[in-house]
Amino acid sequence: MTKRNTKLRVFEGAVLFLLLVFGSSSFADELKMGKMIYQSSCLQCHGERGDGNGPEAVNYDPRPTNFASSQMSALTDPMIEKAVVVGIPALSTHTWGTRLSNAEVAAVIRYIRAF
Ligand code: HEC
Repeated sequence: MTKRNTKLRVFEGAVLFLLLVFGSSSFADELKMGKMIYQSSCLQCHGERGDGNGPEAVNYDPRPTNFASSQMSALTDPMIEKAVVVGIPALSTHTWGTRLSNAEVAAVIRYIRAF
C-alpha cells in the first residue's frame, strides 16, 4: 500500500467516525427535545408512559390514545402528523401546529413513536 492510500484511509475513517458521532447525537438531541415537548404539552392527557392515562385523561371521551397500543402502531406517520398539526375530531384544541414548529412536531412524533 502506498503512503497516499494510507492517508486516504485515515481520512475516510475520520469522516465515518464524525458522521457516526454527530449523526447519532442529533438523533439523541431530537428525542430529548421530543421528550421535553411531550412533558409540557401531551403528558397531562396521554400519560407519562404514553398509555393514555394522564391526570386529565378521565375528562375525555374518547380517552386520549394509548401510544403503546396496536391502535397507535396502525397509524401511519402522515396520519399522526395530521392529528398533531391539524387536530382531531374529538378535541378542538388538539391543533398543536399553531403552537409548535415543524421541527418540534417531528421531535414529539419521534418520541411518542418510541413508547
Ligand atoms: C387535552 C388532552 C390532550 C392533550 C394535551 C394531547 N392530546 Fe393527543 N389526544 C387526545 C384525545 C382525547 C385523543 C383522541 C383519541 C381518539 O379519538 O380515540 C388524542 C389523540 C391523539 C393521537 C392519535 C390520533 C388518531 O388518529 O388516533 C395522537 C398521535 C396524539 N393525540 C398526539 C398528541 C401529542 C403529540 C400531544 C402533545 C403535543 C397531544 N396529543 C396532546 C387528548 C390530548
